[in-house]
Amino acid sequence: MTRFIALQTDITTLKADAVVNAANRTLLGGGGVDGAIHRAAGPRLLEACRALGGCETGQAKITPAFNLPAKWIIHTPGPVWRGGTRGEEKLLAACYTHSLELAREKGARTVAFPCISTGVYGYPRAQAAQTAFASVRNFVGAHPDAFDIIYFVCFLPEDLALYQKLTESKTC
Ligand code: APR
Repeated sequence: MTRFIALQTDITTLKADAVVNAANRTLLGGGGVDGAIHRAAGPRLLEACRALGGCETGQAKITPAFNLPAKWIIHTPGPVWRGGTRGEEKLLAACYTHSLELAREKGARTVAFPCISTGVYGYPRAQAAQTAFASVRNFVGAHPDAFDIIYFVCFLPEDLALYQKLTESKTC
């Protein structure tokens, strides 16, 4: 059985097996959670990311977590919100699915997601939360023994309220 937990914290402090980074396609760092993760993980992360040669939107790539308490960092560029008619929903769902595929391959039992695309990339947070949760539930429903806990890590109280509603006594 997989538990879904919504919490408000700095994702770089979370001791999950895998922490997901809302990256950009260069994978060379940036602001927001990407910047926080690179700062906390240290310079070896940038070196490892350089070797990855970038990542397409909706895809995901994995590195060690270096100085983070986690074991792995999964880098996934979310879609930039352009009004919702450019396949944003499908691409955002793919970020979650591909991240969970990589986490499962590595045997990660706990995975922490930030609210991908809802900062700089401007994705409306309520729609993003719905898509994120649906995508995660679909994956966990198809792989019920893969994970013990999926964390939805919110930085803002409004995101926490959204994910608390979605995760209320839901397990898979
Ligand atoms: N821990 C958890 N969540 C965080 C943290 C943190 N330390 N810092 C920011 N966040 C939250 C933001 O509040 C937002 O809810 O992460 C969510 C995603 O926001 P962004 O980091 O801006 O990511 P995104 O909207 O996907 O834009 C990605 O921004 O930082 C650049 O390099 C990144 O170009 C890429 C773009």
